[in-house]
Amino acid sequence: MSGQTTTPDIKTPKTDTPEKTGTPKKKVFVKTFGCQMNVYDTERMKDLIKGDYSETDEPDDADLVILNTCHIREKAAEKVYSDLGRLKANKTKRQAEGKATTIAVTGCVAQAEGKEILRRAPVVDLVVGPQSYQNLPKLLDQSQKGERVAAEFDVADKFKALKGNRTITGPSAFVTVQEGCDKFCAFCVVPYTRGAEVSRPVEAIVEEVRALVQHGVREVNLLGQNVNAFHGQGPDGNSWTLARLIRHLAKIDRLDRLRFTTSHPRDMDDDLIAAHGDTPKLMPYLHLPIQSGSDAILKAMNRKHTAAEYRQMIDDLRQARPDIALSSDFIVGFPGESDQDFEDTMQLVRDVTFAMAYSFKYSERPGTPAAEKHDQVPEAVKSERLQRLQALLREQTLAFNHEQIGKTLPVLFEKPGRKPGQMQGRSPYLQSVYVDGPEDLKGEIVDVEITGATLNSLQGHLVR
Ligand code: SAH
Ligand code: SF4
Ligand code: F3S
Repeated sequence: MSGQTTTPDIKTPKTDTPEKTGTPKKKVFVKTFGCQMNVYDTERMKDLIKGDYSETDEPDDADLVILNTCHIREKAAEKVYSDLGRLKANKTKRQAEGKATTIAVTGCVAQAEGKEILRRAPVVDLVVGPQSYQNLPKLLDQSQKGERVAAEFDVADKFKALKGNRTITGPSAFVTVQEGCDKFCAFCVVPYTRGAEVSRPVEAIVEEVRALVQHGVREVNLLGQNVNAFHGQGPDGNSWTLARLIRHLAKIDRLDRLRFTTSHPRDMDDDLIAAHGDTPKLMPYLHLPIQSGSDAILKAMNRKHTAAEYRQMIDDLRQARPDIALSSDFIVGFPGESDQDFEDTMQLVRDVTFAMAYSFKYSERPGTPAAEKHDQVPEAVKSERLQRLQALLREQTLAFNHEQIGKTLPVLFEKPGRKPGQMQGRSPYLQSVYVDGPEDLKGEIVDVEITGATLNSLQGHLVR
């Protein structure tokens, strides 16, 4: 069970005299839900408070618990409230031991439900939307003085504040270049939780990437809710496209790999497609969500392109970079989706063939246009469709992984594997690759001959 209370500091009334020397005394536990943007935000929040809090993976030990939440589907949002139930018991128990616990809800549920969280869950001390993290230390101070706080929205401010001082966790790093979304797909909460599209200035991105590379990072994954809508201000005062940014970053010595995620097909311009052919550092892997293969459903979803346009884009990408591996997102059971609409999705998957894909049952989100529709698809139909789609997608992933057997791929090694003496890295196509090898492989790009493949990973041996 939990640890005994052997600590001599009995109570933490008001933290007027924090000791800033040595390891911070207070502990923080963070649980992250949702997308890469949340993972990135979690890292930045930890950086912001690392002077006062060291991390623990035991919620029982934590003086501060942060739930960095996701609102994308109903299940994701509800998980937060069940976690808060458990945390309440925790907080009461710690209180009996004379220890205070601050509970903060951050991320997209915080943005969407804000003050309602404070009402529905009295255990919560602090609610911080995804655009206000930069104020976290100040907000924590406020809440530890007994105020319950819900913070506001300012993404440009967030970009300004979140620079430098990053903790490096491995040779591959995410860098946010764009946040928010103006697309308003009929099913999606992101434009409401993350707000309008904002791009970071090119120079700030370059500075962050250079600092990461100086500390041993060799791969950068440019991150944005709608990353290829990037239009950050360049050093020349003009607005730069993502393709231009990528070609610019590719000039940085010792930065070996570039990726970007997540793209919208509408913003996949010819120059970005061409970059896959002319910029060797840009890895041959693209996540390009289509959601559905039916034009009627794409229109109802407000995706603003047809299935034929998507197919053409894939042909062009393969023309530019013949070995490019493609990944996508699908939603089954969007309101009004007929059997034929679903068959169109299956056919598109058969024709395009994906190396990887995520697929979801449509989840009704309050406040989005699709939630108002009357022709919702029955749960049983959604489940059956999802099963069929996932079986097909799994088959394609397995086939793609099997195709690598016998090939030699450059692998960027990231960390030890699960078994002793094993290391894990990534192929250019983002597959996990396991080899037997020493720990000092970490951060190296080494050729690996692939000898085995499963649905989730490749195995091989070092070629040196
Ligand atoms: N910006 C990205 C997607 C972000 S959300 C894009 O446009 O592709 C990640 C994925 O969650 C989406 O691609 C979609 O497949 C899924 N998703 C979003 N809202 C959903 C909902 N209401 N129900 C089910 N899946 C949803
Ligand atoms: Fe959501 Fe559509 Fe924006 Fe993606 S492009 S974040 S699915 S609204
Ligand atoms: Fe979820 Fe927000 Fe990301 S809703 S998917 S955490 S942008």
